[in-house]
Amino acid sequence: MIKRVRSWLNQEDSQQTHQLSPDNIPHHVAIIMDGNGRWAKRRGMPRIVGHQNGMKAVKRAAIAADDLGIKILTMYAFSTENWTRPKDEVDFLMKLPQEFLAIELEELIEKNVQVRMMGHPEELPSHTVSAMEEAVAKTAGNNGLVLNFALNYGSRKEITESFKALGQEISDGILRPEDITEELIGRRLLTGELPDPDLLIRTSGELRLSNFMLWQLAYSELWFTDAYWPEFTKDHLVEAIAEYQQRTRRYGGLS
Ligand code: FPP
Repeated sequence: MIKRVRSWLNQEDSQQTHQLSPDNIPHHVAIIMDGNGRWAKRRGMPRIVGHQNGMKAVKRAAIAADDLGIKILTMYAFSTENWTRPKDEVDFLMKLPQEFLAIELEELIEKNVQVRMMGHPEELPSHTVSAMEEAVAKTAGNNGLVLNFALNYGSRKEITESFKALGQEISDGILRPEDITEELIGRRLLTGELPDPDLLIRTSGELRLSNFMLWQLAYSELWFTDAYWPEFTKDHLVEAIAEYQQRTRRYGGLS
């Protein structure tokens, strides 16, 4: 049955034009938030202003995802390759999680959101890690939207580390090579027990995965928009889901 999904936000949005089926909302949506720098450049402003506005878009996306019935939202906030950026920019990006959480954590708790972090904390500054750990601890008991931040995340590093650990277990005699299955590898990745994303969104017109969830995205639907990340609104999410709902997922089989 096609009917309009519930909304406690302004109804003057693309839900008016896109009829979403509430029975086919993607469970897990992953987003590559790209275009902060270009958004700022276009306005003659420094790149960090783009990141600051990108942070506001994170909140909009989380509210919209929750409102639309998405259960898990994974956001690519900092990659293992982003360290090659100028130090000032990296330092600014490292402050954003704590700034975001200082403003939003109370509301996230109220809205029953569960904050998670996926990445390699050992290379992150302690102020970034402690802000994330506090948010993770304070929301661990929540069972609403899972807001999963990929921070110092790189898929090849994730896969390499998990293979190293499996290799060690084999050499220790805890595991036999024949025990290794796709399920076992999946569980050893940083996503753990989270299901694979149903839908991947990338903003800014770039058409690549940039070392993001390479294993987990094997059968995800991909949706790209030219909008820069700071411009991202609920309308974009509704449009992405509307297109997702037109797709037939065959997982290599026949429809
Ligand atoms: C890519 O755009 C974006 C990033 C590397 C940073 C993404 C971070 C945020 C959106 C804010 C995160 C907020 C929280 C709360 C963790 P780019 O700067 O590479 O854009 P460009 O390709 O136009 O230069």
